[in-house]
Amino acid sequence: MTLLELEDVTASYGPVQVLEGVSLSVPENGAFGILGANGAGKTTTLRAISATVRTGGRITFDGKDIRGLRPDQVAALGIAHVPEGRGTFGDLSVRENLRVGAYLRNDRKGIDEDIDYCLDLFPNLQERIGSNASALSGGEQQMLAVARAIMSKPRLLLLDEASLGLAPSTAKNVYDAIRRLRSESGIAMLVVEQNANLAFTLVDGATVLETGRNVLTGTTAELKGMDEIRRAYLGG
Ligand SMILES: Nc1ncnc2c1ncn2[C@@H]1O[C@H](COP(=O)(O)OP(=O)(O)O)[C@@H](O)[C@H]1O
Ligand SMILES: [Mg+2]
Repeated sequence: MTLLELEDVTASYGPVQVLEGVSLSVPENGAFGILGANGAGKTTTLRAISATVRTGGRITFDGKDIRGLRPDQVAALGIAHVPEGRGTFGDLSVRENLRVGAYLRNDRKGIDEDIDYCLDLFPNLQERIGSNASALSGGEQQMLAVARAIMSKPRLLLLDEASLGLAPSTAKNVYDAIRRLRSESGIAMLVVEQNANLAFTLVDGATVLETGRNVLTGTTAELKGMDEIRRAYLGG
């Protein structure tokens, strides 16, 4: 079953239209990637779903038209956005950030269990549990941003460039944990990445954006076999 579907979605910042018609779908329990160069419209596509940019076209989640909802209404449906640049609360501790992620929930026992799960998924955070988020390394902040999203018990995770600015080994750690999360939780994922090698370890299929529109869509196996993908995104 399709969980999220975008059909011919447009988006504008003020008078400037930057998405010209983006279509994609994420199946229930699936993981789908968005690839593309800087400025292609990847972040804006996630913002269109989260309702933080003005949109046209059709966006459906779980069969319901969600375009035109407010950002808090979209979040309440179970869509958690891990933004580019992470967006953790710097002067709150790791534990407090995780609790903020659960602010729409009141199942105390479930929240405590999910905090334990996040700390098992990201052992680095366990060691930093009382530290302010601003004192964490880039990799730890990325882990915290993902963990905070998990705390909202989402059905769909929107991940924006989780590897950006991280050392390769740290980026791999983050993706290993996200892959484990996917297999254990079944949370569906829409994953923006410039590092296609990493994205392809997680997603089943992907679309490539160029100047606000899809230019290629396929399964991970299909895309890996295409010369233009290998040249542009896989370093050979
Ligand atoms: N807040 C904004 N106001 C105006 N233009 C923006 C804003 N954010 C992004 N853009 C423009 O929209 C286009 C797509 O940007 P973005 O979605 O951030 O691309 P990507 O994430 O693929 O790098 C770019 O041309 C960018 O300059
Ligand atoms: Mg971006």
